[in-house]
Formats: sequence, C-alpha cells, structure tokens
Amino acid sequence: MAEDNPPLYGVGDASFQAAGSREGIFKLVNEFFDRMGSDERFATIWNMHPDDKDISRDKLARFLCGWLGGPKLYREKYGSIGIPRVHQHLAIETAERDQWLICMGETVEEQDFDPSFKTYLMEQLFVPAEAVRRRIAGLPKMER
Ligand code: HEM
Repeated sequence: MAEDNPPLYGVGDASFQAAGSREGIFKLVNEFFDRMGSDERFATIWNMHPDDKDISRDKLARFLCGWLGGPKLYREKYGSIGIPRVHQHLAIETAERDQWLICMGETVEEQDFDPSFKTYLMEQLFVPAEAVRRRIAGLPKMER
C-alpha cells in the first residue's frame, strides 16, 4: 500500500516535514547545543562558538529549515550563506568534524523521527560536514 512506502526524503519539503517542521528542527538544534555544552567530548567545538549561543542556535536551526526543503528562514534574517565559507576561520580537522557529527547523531537518535529519516539525515549531514573539513582553498580534493 502506498502509505507503507517511506517518504522520498529530499523531494519537495518531505525532509522538513519528517524533521517535525520548524518546531522539530528548533528542538533538535536546541538539544544539539545543550548536549555540546554539557559533554566534555564536545568541548573543543563548543569553545569555538561565540559566547552568545542563542544566536548560534537560531542560525543553525534556520539554516536547516531551508536545507531540508522548508522555508528559507536563514536567508530571511541573516542573508545568503556558504557553509564552507562561514567556517573558513576555524581549525576544523577530522576530530572536530567527528565531534560535530557524533554530537548531532546522538541528538538525532533521541528525536521522535522515523528511523529511516534518522539514517538519511545523518548521511546527508556528512556532506556539508566534510565540506567544512575541506574548506581551505587549494587542498587536494581527496586528501588531508
Ligand atoms: C564539521 C563540523 C562543524 C563544526 C566544528 C562547526 C562549528 C561551527 C562554529 C564554531 C560556528 C560559529 C562560527 C562563528 O560565529 O565564529 C559555526 C557556525 C555555523 N555552522 Fe557550523 N560547524 C560544523 C559543521 C556544520 C554543518 C555540517 C552545518 C550545516 C549543515 C553547519 C552550519 C553552521 C551555520 C549555519 C553557522 C552559522 C554561520 C553564521 O551565520 O555565522 N556547521 N559552526
């Protein structure tokens, strides 16, 4: 039956809906930052962020709404964005990329999302996370 088929994440706003729309995405991001700030494993990336984490929370949540096919809330408030560019000034190597992905993965796991969406979301997030790690212009494409 059609309703037994998983939604086609990535098509239209299916991912945005699967993440609980705006409310679900802000909840995810708030819990992501709460986790980052309360667990020593993530201290390096927590300390990289500006002191005012409320702005960081707002920026990431708004970005993810648009990135998941929902309304372009980041652009509405902060203008255009290039993910590698906004991380250009930060020392993000494999360890820092992995802190971010592990922190996000553990937070995603606790959400009331369909298991197939949890897997899809983490696979998709690996792509910009890896682009951030490789953000320094001139690096060879497949090494570092
Ligand atoms: C690879 C691991 C990552 C680390 C360690 C990291 C860390 C950071 C830090 C420290 C900032 C604050 C920069 C500042 O204000 O000086 C930031 C900003 C931001 N990050 Fe990341 N980030 C990572 C990956 C990602 C990914 C995968 C995304 C999106 C899917 C993302 C989206 C953003 C956004 C939207 C901002 C706000 C940019 C702005 O408007 O200033 N980050 N990140």
